[in-house]
This record gives sequence, C-alpha cells and structure tokens, in this order.
Amino acid sequence: MIIRSARFIKSSTKLKDCPEADRAEYAFTGRSNVGKSSLINMLVNRKKLAKTSSTPGKTQTINHFIINENWYLTDLPGYGYAKVSKSSRKHWEGFTGEYITKRDNLISLFVLIDSRHEPLKPDYEFMNFLGLKGIPFARVFTKSDKISSNSLSQVMAAHDRHMLEKWESLPPTFISSAITGKGREEILKYIEDTITFFEKRP
Ligand code: GTP
Ligand code: MG
Repeated sequence: MIIRSARFIKSSTKLKDCPEADRAEYAFTGRSNVGKSSLINMLVNRKKLAKTSSTPGKTQTINHFIINENWYLTDLPGYGYAKVSKSSRKHWEGFTGEYITKRDNLISLFVLIDSRHEPLKPDYEFMNFLGLKGIPFARVFTKSDKISSNSLSQVMAAHDRHMLEKWESLPPTFISSAITGKGREEILKYIEDTITFFEKRP
C-alpha cells in the first residue's frame, strides 16, 4: 500500500456523527499512551496528522482520516488508564463500544500493546470481547525501540502463551516503532491484503 495522501476528516463522539460508512476502515485502539496516534503518523508519514501527547488521554474523540482519498484510518480514544474514573471508563465503553460493534465498514481493528508490558487484563478482556463479537483484529507491539529484541521476544512469548489459554490461534501480530518506522511496511501490506472497496451508494 503506497500512501499518496492523508487528510483529517472529522472528530466524532457518537457513531451517528461519524462519516458515512461507505469506505473500508481500519481503527487503532489500545490503552492510553500506548502510541496509537504516533503509529498513525508513522504509517502515513506525517508527523503531526494525529495529535500525540506524553500525557495519557490525549485522544478523546473518534478521529477519521481519509487515506488516498479512498479509505478511512481511525484514531480511537485510549482505554484502561489507571487514573481514569469509573464513570469515564463507562463513557469509553459506551461510545467506543458502539463504534466498534456497529461500524459496518470496519475491516479490522489494530489493538496496540506496549512492547515493555507483560499481558495486562484490560487488553485481553477487550480482545476477548472482540472475539465474542466476531470483530477481526490484529495486535501491534508498539515502542519496540525502547526494549532489546531479546526482551521483546520474551514479552511476546508471554503474550502468546496467555492468549492461547483462551484462543485456538493467534491474530495477525506486528511489531512497531514510531521512532524507527519498524513495522510500517508489514502493517501497510496487511491493509493492502485485507482491504475491500465499497461501491458508493447511489
Ligand atoms: P492517547 O491518545 O492519550 O490514548 O495516547 P496514544 O495511544 O495516542 O499515544 P501517543 O501516540 O500520543 O504517544 C504517547 C507517548 O508515547 C508520546 O510521548 C509519544 O511520543 C510516545 N511514543 C509513541 N510511540 C512511540 C514509539 O514507537 N517509540 C517511542 N520511543 N515513543 C513513542
Ligand atoms: Mg492518541
């Protein structure tokens, strides 16, 4: 997949406010601060397209970007940040949950996991939920520049073991770094291989 253009469309807080679901869409989700917005910028080669921050909770809305004037890439708010209150957690579950389960044109979600973290409950609860709902997803281990390849192999093996306790097989899995660009080709290839184009409704 060659990225020729990337343009911000809009921020939404409800499914019904999102752009029309008439094009293939890929969405990025994961814990606050895991690097969703940075990964999007790295993929499309634009430093400041999606807003990033070292303070967790930066992305609070569903943000749609159109790529090659052809398909959507979506930045979702993060979940599971320890300092977030129960009520804002419920809010996330409500509006992001609605988006994830009802957005018909969503081809795949990317669930981002910090490469330095052992398996964490919110991530696997979330992936189990996706499994129950039959929503396709891939895992991305982010910030791989912050860890040695040996340690990363160990972390990933722990994640795979954890996942295989409940799952029969593992989802597509990528390793990324927004600093070095690692994973860019592989993730764009996955998008190219899975994308389906929608006939625009008359
Ligand atoms: P929220 O929108 O708050 O949920 O966060 P997010 O998941 O969009 O994370 P964001 O992309 O804003 O990145 C959070 C912090 O991690 C920022 O300080 C980034 O610079 C840093 N970061 C993101 N990706 C990488 C990476 O691959 N390597 C390194 N070293 N830092 C990264
Ligand atoms: Mg963000």
